[in-house]
Amino acid sequence: MEFLLLVFRDTQELQLLHFWFFLGIYLAALLGNGLVITTIACDQHLHTPMYFFLLNLSVLNLGCISTTVPKSMASSLWDTWAISYAGCAAQVFLYFFSATAEFSCLTIMAYDRYVSICKPLHYGTLLSSRACVHMAAAAWATGFLNAVLHTANTFSLPLCKGNALDQFFCELLQILKLSCSDSYLREFGLLLVCISVTLISFVFIVVSYVQIFRAVLRIPSEQGRHKAFSTCLPHLLVVSLFVSTGTYTYLKPPSISSPSLNLVVSILYSVVPPAVNPLIYSMRNQELKDALRKLMAGWFSKAINCSSSAHH
Ligand SMILES: *[C@@H]1O[C@H](CO)[C@@H](O)[C@H](O)[C@H]1NC(C)=O
Repeated sequence: MEFLLLVFRDTQELQLLHFWFFLGIYLAALLGNGLVITTIACDQHLHTPMYFFLLNLSVLNLGCISTTVPKSMASSLWDTWAISYAGCAAQVFLYFFSATAEFSCLTIMAYDRYVSICKPLHYGTLLSSRACVHMAAAAWATGFLNAVLHTANTFSLPLCKGNALDQFFCELLQILKLSCSDSYLREFGLLLVCISVTLISFVFIVVSYVQIFRAVLRIPSEQGRHKAFSTCLPHLLVVSLFVSTGTYTYLKPPSISSPSLNLVVSILYSVVPPAVNPLIYSMRNQELKDALRKLMAGWFSKAINCSSSAHH
């Protein structure tokens, strides 16, 4: 048994556009996240909780985008729209895993910023390396658990409405639409639990940021305020993109859905964030930019040394 991913099949031009667009965005994601990962791993100054979690986020970003985009590009290049049953289950699993773990990481990062700005004296104890490893493990475990639950549940449902999905990857809601009447209620309940947990985390993040902003506005020096804002605002932007598009997808009433709007939103929440996250983070972060510059300078001087010693 297999599924068909039919969203781009209709017009030739759209297929080509889709291929180049996805290729560009995938390369951008590989480059951006790859640079963030190597910069943080190589620079001793960046071995702090905030950057370790950013490293986690970049690894998850790469995982997230690699489950959906390459397969979709291959489909439009070779005009083969089928995906095997196992492939589809793997996509649902990996996608849920990385998205959940990513959101957990974002929640932990809000906590990290909160402690560092509002309770600086307790930072060393609340975010000790042991505590960080535990929190990171919890984030990955949450992702794993959530992914197992949803995948097992969805793929045990009997499907009776064909195998065509109106999407470019195997998305849970699209598969539920194919299931026989009423049997999807259990998965629906699970999704509700999932959404509630996400909303609770979101409230936690917002409350942390309200505290942070209140503290930041009390900082007397302009420069201190600027530094605090520049590490927090990008984070808030990423979280908002994630939550708003996710909410649209899972909570909209069916009456307002149009296929093209759905497509745009699904690209916005599944493909764009992994590619733009590194940009958003590094754009306003002087520390990260400096480390990257140092890393590049190191690479260039090594390359020049190599080529000049090869001459001799
Ligand atoms: C994730 O973060 C934890 C805690 O800071 C760190 O120990 C771990 O190495 C990170 N893992 C990855 C894959 O980035």
